[in-house]
Amino acid sequence: MKLTADFLVIGSGIAGLSYALKVADKGSVLLVTKRQIDYTATSLAQGGIAAVASEQGDFASHVEDTMVAGADLSHPDIVDLTVRKGPQAIADLISWGVEFSRNDQNEYDMTREGGHSQRRIFHAKDATGREIERALVAAATRHPAIRILENHIAVDLITEAKIRQTSVDENRCLGAYVLDIEQQEVITIGARFTVLATGGAGKVYLYTCNPDVATGDGVAIAWRAGAAVANMEFMQFHPTTLYHPKAKPFLISEAVRGEGAILRRRDGTAFMNDQHSLKDLAPRDIVARAIDHQMKIYGDDCVFLDITHKSADYIQDRFPTIYETCLSYGIDMTREPIPVVPAAHYLCGGVQVDSYGESGVRDLFVIGESASTGLHGANRLASNSLLEGIVFASRAAEISLQRLVAARPDFPDIVPWDSGDATNSDEEVIVAHNWDEIRRCMWNYVGIVRSDKRLSRALSRIQLIQQEIVEYYWNFHITSDLIELRNIATVAELIVKSALQRKESRGLHFTLDYPQRDDQNCKYDTVIPGATLSF
Ligand code: SIN
Repeated sequence: MKLTADFLVIGSGIAGLSYALKVADKGSVLLVTKRQIDYTATSLAQGGIAAVASEQGDFASHVEDTMVAGADLSHPDIVDLTVRKGPQAIADLISWGVEFSRNDQNEYDMTREGGHSQRRIFHAKDATGREIERALVAAATRHPAIRILENHIAVDLITEAKIRQTSVDENRCLGAYVLDIEQQEVITIGARFTVLATGGAGKVYLYTCNPDVATGDGVAIAWRAGAAVANMEFMQFHPTTLYHPKAKPFLISEAVRGEGAILRRRDGTAFMNDQHSLKDLAPRDIVARAIDHQMKIYGDDCVFLDITHKSADYIQDRFPTIYETCLSYGIDMTREPIPVVPAAHYLCGGVQVDSYGESGVRDLFVIGESASTGLHGANRLASNSLLEGIVFASRAAEISLQRLVAARPDFPDIVPWDSGDATNSDEEVIVAHNWDEIRRCMWNYVGIVRSDKRLSRALSRIQLIQQEIVEYYWNFHITSDLIELRNIATVAELIVKSALQRKESRGLHFTLDYPQRDDQNCKYDTVIPGATLSF
């Protein structure tokens, strides 16, 4: 089957949905998402969205906090641009129907998280992402120009170079091949503008609080199409996810610490006081490393997050989702501390894009967690991700609409997908084993504390697995599991190669071989050029 649209949007979190809503009055939108439309990382975001509330607000301190958290690797121009778009981003969300929590005076209730010097986070109790997703999905579903394809996963992009089977001066994206998961059919979609908003890659690691859709698809397919990636070594580990043998991965929002919770060892000792001036509210890299250190020296499986000094009424009202979830595992957070461990949470690097979200491949925009805009540097400031998602969706929409008006090129003649001699695999178990091996290897060797030896070991393991995946990919009919495995393997390799390049410790990248930050030699983005196309 062949489909066309002015705008092909892949991914249905805050970035993809807000781009779709911004362009849909001017052209046709095809929005592709690999599960149900609201099965996204956005839906799971708890804390909130950091933004200065009005044009008269204090932009300078939000810029400063972002730069400090990013360990001076964030791009100052991009930080300034993003922070200044905060009031507009909040106004857009409210216009689409998002309802943020208000206080007793009926003003928006601002919360605080790690690394923030002020209360500047809009939230909807402890389920901000769920509220944003609800409103944006409703608005997108209502819009007549937006067609939504659920249970469809992108396989690869279609580019001019691929079509012509030669390198071109300026490679352009022409759409994507997409697998209809239920029908097991690959659809060819031609588009004037293609947007990757597929979210993060937490599933590259064994322990993550990301949903299982976070397999780095956008990063992997953009890189395969020739787009460069940047700063892939900076995987953020969230300090506090619920530790319980029966619990599915579940985040304990940093807003709990923002409202006064304290991290303690098993014996009750608070251990953040001498780690950083912000104590328990230090930036995430510092808190995650401190927890990792405590667990290693005391041989404990977890540490404890204690907010029992607040009243039960307050806790139940402010954190209803966290309270109920903990209670369902027998933990009453109003009376006892919550057992927590760090887990992979957010990819700060991604596809290198300009200030409009455009990648190195023309007409291919990458927005949200899949992108490296320059905002997060070596460590993302809490709650800056939803802000970045909507700001760069608006910027990408702005430039695509300008181009659409200036010239409406015909759709090129795209070759449909050819599955050649592929057969059905009789050994699906290999996919599952390889998936597990990559995730374990990344957790053990490419986690919170790294070394050159661990990284090299990880690289050779992953490259071996890659060979098997390539064989599988060409010989058997593709499935969504195989597509995701191929993507996590690509992303894992990009993370390891980037980590090997950085010969210092900065932000989220800590290595025993170079434990100091080295501004003189290493204050740059780690860039890996896009894959060379083979014809
Ligand atoms: C949290 O609620 O702790 C997560 C917020 C974020 O990752 O920005």
